[in-house]
Amino acid sequence: MRELLRIDDISVSYGNIRALKNVSMHVNEGDIVCLIGANGSGKSTLLKAIVGQEPLVDGTIVFDGEEICKARCNMSRKERRRHITTDQIAARGIAMVPEGRRVFSDMTVEENLDMGAFLVRDDKLIGERKEAMYDFFPILGARKRQKTRSLSGGEQQMMAIARALMSGPRMILLDEPGLGLAPLVIADIFEKIDLINKQDKVTVFLVEQNARMALRASNEGYVLENGQVVLHDSSSALLANERVKAAYLGE
Ligand SMILES: Nc1ncnc2c1ncn2[C@@H]1O[C@H](COP(=O)(O)OP(=O)(O)OP(=O)(O)O)[C@@H](O)[C@H]1O
Ligand SMILES: [Mg+2]
Repeated sequence: MRELLRIDDISVSYGNIRALKNVSMHVNEGDIVCLIGANGSGKSTLLKAIVGQEPLVDGTIVFDGEEICKARCNMSRKERRRHITTDQIAARGIAMVPEGRRVFSDMTVEENLDMGAFLVRDDKLIGERKEAMYDFFPILGARKRQKTRSLSGGEQQMMAIARALMSGPRMILLDEPGLGLAPLVIADIFEKIDLINKQDKVTVFLVEQNARMALRASNEGYVLENGQVVLHDSSSALLANERVKAAYLGE
């Protein structure tokens, strides 16, 4: 299987707080990989590091064979000038659905989807992708001229996912898509995530506090504790792991 994303020994700090310590992970093309961990374990920080929103103190991140992030202290002056930006990372095919959805609530559904396609130059392609999103999430089609703030939490999450897909990514990063939603709505969203992976062949990296949902939905999983990877295995093995059961599944 082909490796699409490799995170190699990265560390990230906020001032004196070391949020990630020597984290290594990989995601194979076509897989759904999940990352579970408690509040404050560093899950969102990891996703921000992948898209270039938080600088690395150490380590490297490679996407599709190319280094997309590298600790500044390990770069030459020339490399610093050339170092790729968040937009360029998006252009390479990574799209993020941030924690708490972060929709533009004053904008309509349609305008939000347009924002997701800001790197796409071809208007016809943008139109086709929007129609595909309205087919895939019919509720968004029915609400396309409505301001986003009037949508329910689940509808906003669907819109945030659709917005990420508008860039035509090879990989999407989802930060707690189930947060604050009712179980039935979460099940609906996870079903969509599975279709995006299986039908559209988009590789998925899923961050969740809802460990059971995440492990059931994925092929492989990582467990993050205090900024460090403490377990990595197939999701089925993690579901049966005594430590995971006790700490994350309430069994
Ligand atoms: N901007 C920031 N400035 C300072 N500290 C931060 C910042 N963002 C996160 N942290 C700290 O870094 C650690 C990891 O935070 P992070 O948001 O990555 O955790 P998380 O696993 O996503 O948590 P949650 O499940 O609550 O979303 C925490 O201790 C947090 O307080
Ligand atoms: Mg978080």
